[in-house]
Amino acid sequence: MTEMIEQARAILRRNDRGGYTVPTDRLYPFQWNWDSAFVAMGWATFDEARGFTEVERLLEGQWDDGLVPQIVFHALSDDYFPGPSVWGVQHVPPTSGITQPPVLASAVRRLLDRARDGAAAEDRVAAIYPRLVASHRWWRQARDPAGSGLVSTLHPWETGMDNSPAWDVALARVPTTTTAPVQRRDTSHVDASMRPRAEEYQRFIHLVDVFRDAGWQPDKMLAASPFRVADIATNSILLRAERDLLVLTRRFGGPGDAAEIASRADRMQDAIARLWNARTGLFQSLDQISGARIEVATSAGLLPLYAGAADAAHTQEMVATLQRWAGMVRYLVPSTAPDEACFDALRYWRGPIWAVVNWMIAEGLAESGEAGVANEVRNATRELIAAAGFSEYFDPRDGRGIGGANFSWTAAIYLLLH
Ligand code: DGY
Repeated sequence: MTEMIEQARAILRRNDRGGYTVPTDRLYPFQWNWDSAFVAMGWATFDEARGFTEVERLLEGQWDDGLVPQIVFHALSDDYFPGPSVWGVQHVPPTSGITQPPVLASAVRRLLDRARDGAAAEDRVAAIYPRLVASHRWWRQARDPAGSGLVSTLHPWETGMDNSPAWDVALARVPTTTTAPVQRRDTSHVDASMRPRAEEYQRFIHLVDVFRDAGWQPDKMLAASPFRVADIATNSILLRAERDLLVLTRRFGGPGDAAEIASRADRMQDAIARLWNARTGLFQSLDQISGARIEVATSAGLLPLYAGAADAAHTQEMVATLQRWAGMVRYLVPSTAPDEACFDALRYWRGPIWAVVNWMIAEGLAESGEAGVANEVRNATRELIAAAGFSEYFDPRDGRGIGGANFSWTAAIYLLLH
C-alpha cells in the first residue's frame, strides 16, 4: 500500500466522530449530507461495514417527510455558524432545515455492488432502501410539486456550491438578514479571501430566517423563498441517484416502486436535455423566480454526463469545452470557466477545483465512452492531491491546496481513484 493511501485512510479515521465523519476538524464539526455520501464510498474501499454506518448515521437526521438534511448536529460545537439554535428545527438529533445534492442512493448502490461480504451488505441495504425511496419522494413532492421534471433548490447551501457565480443574480434579490446576528466562524479557520463574502452570508442567513418563519413546511418554503433555482448539478445528481435506486428496486423494491422511479427519471431526463446552452458548450441552471436561464459557465454544467443525460453530440461539445479550459489553466476542472469575468482562482466555488466534482465528471465521461478525457481528469485529480495534500479545494493555475486541510471527501476521492 502506498503512503498516500495510508494517509487518506488516516484522515477518515481522524475525522471519525463515532460512526460519522466530519468534513474536516473545526471548520465543519458536524455530519454533512453529500460529504458523507462520498466519504461512505471512501470508507468502503477498506472497511465496508464502516461505509454503511456513515450512511445510517446520516439517516438518523432524516425527517418524517423524507428530507435528508444538509447537516446533522450529532454533538454541539462552537466552531460553526449557524448552529442548531439559528435553524430552530425540532428534531432529534438536531439538524439544519434544508438539504444538499442527493448522492446518497448512488453511494449505497456502489457499496452493495462492490461488497466483498455480499450477505452483510444486503442486510444493511434492505434496512436503508425504504429511507432512500422516501427521500426521493420528498424531492418530487416538496421540490417539484407541479411535476416539471426539475427540482428546485431554495438556498445556495442546498446546491453545495454556495458562492457559485451561477447564483449571483438570484442571490442579489435576497435581502440581507435583519433578525439574526451573523457570527461567522469559518473565517477564523480559513483565510477570508477563500470563503464567501460577508454580504453573501447576510443573504444566506435571511433565507434561513424566511424558512424558519415558514415552520420548515415544504409548501410554505417554496412559496415564500426569494431564491429558487433548478440547479443543473442537483438535478443531474438526483437523476443519477434515481437510476441507481431503480437498480436497487430489483432486489429490495415493493410493488410499483420501479414504475414510479422510472417515470420520475424519464421526466427529469427530458427536462435536463432542454437546459443545453450552445454558447457555453455546457448545460445550465434555471432561475425559477425570473424564468431566466443562468448563462455563466461553471463545472456544474458538465454533470449531466454523470447523470447519463447527455447525447453523443452534447458529450462531444462538453469534451471540447473541457479542452478549451485546459488551455487556460494548468489543472482541470476549474469550478468556473477561466474566461468568465467572475472567475476567481481562490474563492471557494468561483474558480477552484473540487475533487468530488472531478470524480463525478470523470465517471460520466468514462461511461459516455470518453475514456481518454476521463483519465485526464482523474490524473489531474491524483496529481493535485499527491502534490498539495488532501485540501478542501485547489487553485487551477498552480495546483496549490486551499481552504481547509485534511479534508475527508478529498481523502475519499483519492481512495476511489486507486
Ligand atoms: C457552509 O459552508 O457553512 C455551508 O454550510 C456548507 O454547506
